[in-house]
Amino acid sequence: MKNIAIFASGTGSNFAALQAAFADPARGVHISVLVCDHAHAAVVAKARTAGVPVVLVNYKQCGSKAAAEQYIISKLPTIDLIVLAGFMRILGPDLLAAYPRKIINLHPALLPSFPGRTGIADAYEYGVKVTGVTVHYVDAGVDSGEIIAQEPVRITAGESLDELETAIHAVEHVLLPNAVTELIKEGAI
Ligand code: GRF
Repeated sequence: MKNIAIFASGTGSNFAALQAAFADPARGVHISVLVCDHAHAAVVAKARTAGVPVVLVNYKQCGSKAAAEQYIISKLPTIDLIVLAGFMRILGPDLLAAYPRKIINLHPALLPSFPGRTGIADAYEYGVKVTGVTVHYVDAGVDSGEIIAQEPVRITAGESLDELETAIHAVEHVLLPNAVTELIKEGAI
């Protein structure tokens, strides 16, 4: 059984997708903990309902990113992988050094196009005909680490941004659990 930590800041639809995908112990993945930087985020309630332990971290109260990351590291159980699923922060050197090649991120565009916080809208506004979803290793840059998995999503004529967001999220909910399973099969974790 591989133990994973999920880091998320908001709604948590990807947390829910991972939880559903790995509810069957035969999939070999146990969600050990949710790390969240917003006490009132919907993902916190989702984790509590699912019985997943929650570590809340208040970056402001910690005083610095380094202090916040040391706090997170001190609270994490033994884990094989950290999955950033809508965690809206750039990781600092402490977490990266503590988990080398063991941190992956989900990004709602086809990297290296449209990195950053607004990848879906940026692709839509640019007018690309194909965007998509990327799972990648996390490094010190913004959405710049080695790509693990990608899935294209077509933008059809007349499609609204809302419709595109729905389509992107639907793809995310399948691609992310599958990428975790692939990493296990490959022996990467
Ligand atoms: C996802 O679109 C993910 O790609 C991005 O943040 C969003 C999180 O959504 N990094 P949710 O909280 O999992 O619903």
